[in-house]
Amino acid sequence: MTADRLRVAILGLGTAGNRHIAAFKEIAAVELLGADTDPARRAAAEATGVRTAATVEALYDLRPDAVVVAVPHTALADAALTALQRDCHVLLEKPMATTLADARRILDVAKARKRLVMLSFVHRFRPEVAKAKAWIAAGAIGRPRLIVDTMASGASSMPAWVWDRKVGGGGMMMYNGPHPVDRANFLFGEHGTTVAATVRTLSYPVDTEDTVAATLVYPSGGVASFVQHKAPAAAHGAWETHVYGTEGSLFIRTGERVTLTTKAGTETPQLGPEDRFLGAAQEFVGAIGEGRAVSPNGDDGLAVLAAILKMYETR
Ligand SMILES: NC(=O)c1ccc[n+]([C@@H]2O[C@H](COP(=O)([O-])OP(=O)(O)OC[C@H]3O[C@@H](n4cnc5c(N)ncnc54)[C@H](O)[C@@H]3O)[C@@H](O)[C@H]2O)c1
Repeated sequence: MTADRLRVAILGLGTAGNRHIAAFKEIAAVELLGADTDPARRAAAEATGVRTAATVEALYDLRPDAVVVAVPHTALADAALTALQRDCHVLLEKPMATTLADARRILDVAKARKRLVMLSFVHRFRPEVAKAKAWIAAGAIGRPRLIVDTMASGASSMPAWVWDRKVGGGGMMMYNGPHPVDRANFLFGEHGTTVAATVRTLSYPVDTEDTVAATLVYPSGGVASFVQHKAPAAAHGAWETHVYGTEGSLFIRTGERVTLTTKAGTETPQLGPEDRFLGAAQEFVGAIGEGRAVSPNGDDGLAVLAAILKMYETR
């Protein structure tokens, strides 16, 4: 902490890192730092006014209070552990780690060091998801019983490492899949367990999955069904979530709207502007400043990773 500003370092200045930079720049109480092993990525961040360090070691010489870890999947756990061992709070990109042992180590070190670990499940901060959660909490659909989530997209540019198991730890389920699993956990208000999964490589010349169909069950007896697909061609994207409850249902079209259906009719409210990375940044900075628990937290990350790794085992 310098004077009254929190020093937040973005580690990994790629696709996600740049979204985090834009978000944290909106928070006056934050001084931003950055680091990346790629000099071109560092130069691009410097050009936007972010002070960067040439090495991860040099970053810690600048004494950050908190680190946003946004590196490829197999590098997430080591980077998070280093940050915690330097007594920094961590906002950690999904999928948190690629093994449960690493994820548990992160939780243990965070507890020992009394540091926060927040998971970057930014979809919780989408207005349509927040509204769905508020409706469920208010009892608008009774008890949620079934969630059907489809996240299918057409071809788009993604970092090449996403398809490389040694770096990605898996394929689309590790890159996109954590969001829908966490969304269902968030809406149910509990953590689901995978009981069935079909994991396939249907369209891309890779050794990781481009397609998953999976079922999770919840302690309350609820069920969630997921489809994750990356099409090889242009496609009408379907990022849609249906939530069926005992008294009504919700339909979320990600990035667009949420509709409530009950015996009283349907309601599709006007939603505020979307800035999910800013929502996450505000929660992280708020929790640090207020000395309170953060949400989504490391336990939420462990639950999502466990569900995904179980899909790979089940196949
Ligand atoms: N929350 C979201 O909506 C969201 C969106 C995209 C990506 N992500 C996540 O963010 C993470 C990064 O993904 P991306 O798409 O930004 O990848 P990317 O390839 O665009 O960027 C990763 C950056 O990390 C750097 N890097 C790699 N190893 C490093 C290390 N050990 N130390 C410092 N820098 C290192 C690379 O040079 C690169 O600039 C992944 O965990 C991914 O799943 C999250």
